[in-house]
Amino acid sequence: MSFLTLNNVSYRYRDADRCAVENLSFSMHEGEFLAIIGHNGSGKSTMAKLINGLYTPCSGEVTYKGISTREAKRLHDIRKEVGVVFQNPDNQMVATIVEDDVAFGPENVGVPHEEIEERVTDALAACGMLSERKTAAARLSGGQKQRVAIAGVLALRPRLMIFDESTAMLDPKGRKEVLSVIGKLNREQGIAVILITHYMEEAAAADRILVMHEGHLVADGTPSAIFQNRELLARVGVTTTPTALLCDSLTERGITLPQGILYEEELTEALWRQLK
Ligand SMILES: Nc1ncnc2c1ncn2[C@@H]1O[C@H](COP(=O)(O)OP(=O)(O)OP(=O)(O)O)[C@@H](O)[C@H]1O
Ligand SMILES: [Mg+2]
Repeated sequence: MSFLTLNNVSYRYRDADRCAVENLSFSMHEGEFLAIIGHNGSGKSTMAKLINGLYTPCSGEVTYKGISTREAKRLHDIRKEVGVVFQNPDNQMVATIVEDDVAFGPENVGVPHEEIEERVTDALAACGMLSERKTAAARLSGGQKQRVAIAGVLALRPRLMIFDESTAMLDPKGRKEVLSVIGKLNREQGIAVILITHYMEEAAAADRILVMHEGHLVADGTPSAIFQNRELLARVGVTTTPTALLCDSLTERGITLPQGILYEEELTEALWRQLK
């Protein structure tokens, strides 16, 4: 059975003159790490809300483990396994103390009391926030709040987590913290990830990238294939990674570098090699 499949999905907001997403088709397998990039308004958030059943397609079908989001009675089964973390950590906190906040989700879906404690502890540990379990949420940094929000979703034991620009409001340190938690959940717990981001270096860490443009899926490929296609990137109004841009400048200045460098670490290594 397929894990997640979108088959010709279109969605139009009420009174809008065009579809926010149109004829979207792709599928992902269990444990995959997918990034979605695209200019503002290209339909990324709409897609996220279609996947967890917050919106029902105007046409086409979204199925998670064979269950269609049209089956209202089974939406609950989908939402238990498909969690979404949004952009603003302040809008996602429901309790004043960290551990209560994380317990809220499982309490709400009727997880037995004895099990909640274990789930909260596991989730906070996975997000590196166990030592702050008794802390007041208001005292946390942005990156810490976002990690508590992730722990809150994790306590529901999801199999797919969607991050809709979850690092956008964080400083570089907070962004790194959150991204490293996301990578760890994917690698160590096999949780499938859909990472929606405007930071190309984050997208480059995914197994696969989908590119959205004006409601359409215009490319689907590995990070290296997508970022080497400069013509495509220019057309959809996104850039490559900052490191790749830096490589362009260095090449123009006569420094020879291997093709296709995307991350800082790769560039550092290549430069070290030149100096030897
Ligand atoms: N609630 C709404 N009502 C009407 N139109 C909307 C609504 N939300 C989004 N849209 C429109 O749908 C289209 C897709 O928006 P969406 O928010 O999915 O894009 P996005 O790729 O997530 O953008 P961003 O990068 O800015 O977050 C845009 O044209 C947007 O103006
Ligand atoms: Mg959005």
